[in-house]
Amino acid sequence: MKKAAFVFFKITGILFGLLILIIAFAFLYALYNPDYDISPGAYHWEKGMSEKEIEDTARNLVSRMTLEEKVDQMDGDGGILGWVRLGIRFGILKRFNIQYAGRNTRLDIPPIAFSDGPRGITVGHSTCFPVAMARGATWDTDLERRVGNAIGQEARALGVNYFGGVCINLLRHPAWGRAQETYGEDPWLLGRMAVALTSGVQKNNVMACAKHYALNSIENSRLFVDVLVDERTLREVYLPHFKMFVDAGGASIMSAYNKVNGEHCGHNYHLLTEILREDWGFKGFVTSDWIEGIRNGVKAANAGMDVEMPLSMHYGKNLIEAVKNGKVKETQIDKMAQRIIRTKLKFVTRKDPITYTPDMVANEKHRLLAREVAEKSMVLLKNERTVLPLDPGKIKKLAVIGRLAAVGNTGDHGSSYFKPPYVITPLKGIRNYVGKNTDILYSDGQNVNEAKNMASQADAVIIIAGLDYHDEGEYITSGKGKQIGTGGDRKSLTLHPEDEVLIQAIASVNDRCIVGLMGGSAIIMEKWKKDVPAILMVWYPGMEGGNALARILFGDINPSGKLPFTIPVSEKQLPFFDPAAKTIEYGYYQGYTLFDHKNETPAFPFGFGLSYTAFQYDSLTTKISDGNIITLVNVTNTGDRAGTETVQLYIGFEDPPVERPGKLLRDFRKVRLEPGETKKIRLTLVVKDLARYDTGTGQWVIDPGEYRILVGPSSDNDKLISKTISIENESN
Ligand code: BGC
Repeated sequence: MKKAAFVFFKITGILFGLLILIIAFAFLYALYNPDYDISPGAYHWEKGMSEKEIEDTARNLVSRMTLEEKVDQMDGDGGILGWVRLGIRFGILKRFNIQYAGRNTRLDIPPIAFSDGPRGITVGHSTCFPVAMARGATWDTDLERRVGNAIGQEARALGVNYFGGVCINLLRHPAWGRAQETYGEDPWLLGRMAVALTSGVQKNNVMACAKHYALNSIENSRLFVDVLVDERTLREVYLPHFKMFVDAGGASIMSAYNKVNGEHCGHNYHLLTEILREDWGFKGFVTSDWIEGIRNGVKAANAGMDVEMPLSMHYGKNLIEAVKNGKVKETQIDKMAQRIIRTKLKFVTRKDPITYTPDMVANEKHRLLAREVAEKSMVLLKNERTVLPLDPGKIKKLAVIGRLAAVGNTGDHGSSYFKPPYVITPLKGIRNYVGKNTDILYSDGQNVNEAKNMASQADAVIIIAGLDYHDEGEYITSGKGKQIGTGGDRKSLTLHPEDEVLIQAIASVNDRCIVGLMGGSAIIMEKWKKDVPAILMVWYPGMEGGNALARILFGDINPSGKLPFTIPVSEKQLPFFDPAAKTIEYGYYQGYTLFDHKNETPAFPFGFGLSYTAFQYDSLTTKISDGNIITLVNVTNTGDRAGTETVQLYIGFEDPPVERPGKLLRDFRKVRLEPGETKKIRLTLVVKDLARYDTGTGQWVIDPGEYRILVGPSSDNDKLISKTISIENESN
């Protein structure tokens, strides 16, 4: 008996020891990063090849590859152990490593080395920029190109050559959980910002990937919702920004999880082949959104999906099998391989413009850039009695109140999440700024009486209110559809009720009460908006956000951000939204086009943002020359501070033969003006930008007739000045 017990314990002990060893091995494996060299210098391919040479080289490679080798290009590297690594990294460490796909040493083909974005490179402790929505509020394409360049450099310093962070889903409704990852509600603004980010990233020989193609703008039901949309709406509203990305040479596109008109985007022949390749001539490759992006390998391959990410589930041996039994033609596999290899060769046959070193990650230059972006993104929504800027000489006691004032609130905790080296919170930024000159009183606002008491003693109060990753973000579910973690679509478009109570309580004891709002999209403020003199949209402002905020509050920086979306008075003004929708129809009108269409007045219009100075618009002229519509307008700074204005150009339609929106954004320019200075601003669009999509012929059509060119500081019709132009029978 004793002996039996001994043997039992011995075996159990050995098994237990083995289990510990396996777990330890799995952990080490998860932490281990294979660190493949992805720099062009590590590959023998001649640098500076022409497009034709690249095309021919890729074709030659494909012709020399076995079926297995070709299919190996089409999913992530790692096999079963790859899943172990992903599981541990995501489940326990909450961060992915670089995901590789398609490394072929025999033929010297580099792998894809993937990192997420958009607020920075997620596989390292990199620079955390303000979220994309905040960057959309800068309306500054040069700045976004610089952000792209910094992200591209950090990518390369960390061994990444594929950036999955150009998120350009159109914001149809502010409750969308991932609103913060995109640039706003207008296709033109989205497209311009995407092109800018892409050009900065790709300059560093990093392939940019635009996602999620297409119509992915409900989070909780993203894996199954079927978005119904008519062809005109699809082409005019939900796809122009993807086309702009393609036209600018964007390397890759990630498909969305949802269905469009009954078919999953990953299997959608119309989206992946007819539109993307046949109509737009896209030469790059498409990857699936992770794990659930493909449900049927045969359908996906035949529809034009090139790479299954992150690892093989439906491709790999299933795809080889499908070729062998004739369900997928080998010529289709060859086309897919050609697209993947051609694109990788394109990036590996360029010389690197600089040498990438680890010390580039979150270096001083990039941190200052993160601060500059935050400064240029914050939107001043209200400033009565010029409460702002604060005069540091006069503010002896300043109260900083709110549960978000002292936390590093950089946004969502889904795939875009990573830990930067530090985060300057609003409280820290204000403390850094005032030093010893001003007493800072801080309360997290949980005890309203304590906060009120503090506020009543202060010369001014800053309340930081809003949202965090609990309120909005990526919705991640277990296999059984149960939510893991936080985030998802927003349950409410207002602030938390306790924050509204806090704001009203503080405003009742201090009339110099400034509200700084954190969040990734519109917040309805009707309950308390009138009670406070100043409101500033702070967004999720990145690792330097607190410093940027302080510099705006105290007037070192004159705010210049403009809303990249409309803020409604009530949710009733918005399109129908259901986070649990199995089917939903996306209509032609959304954002400001819906407000124009229904003749509704928003709380704050698209494109709106105040400054510490004021701008005046006059002397508008417009003419057509060589297919271009050239518009000139004088903008004057009528105040006593230098400031930056975003001049916006919209087109309108006089008696169109087919219904058109009230107006559409077509160009914008940033201009910096000294006090009293006037500048003549030139805005251009091509006549083609007036076109509408004609479903009958499948063509873009420019109707002859009268068009309006409207210019001004926002989409508010009362603030736009206009001129009419006449278009005669232009061919498209
Ligand atoms: C997200 C993608 C992301 C991918 C990899 C997916 O759940 O939808 O945006 O790139 O995960 O992290």
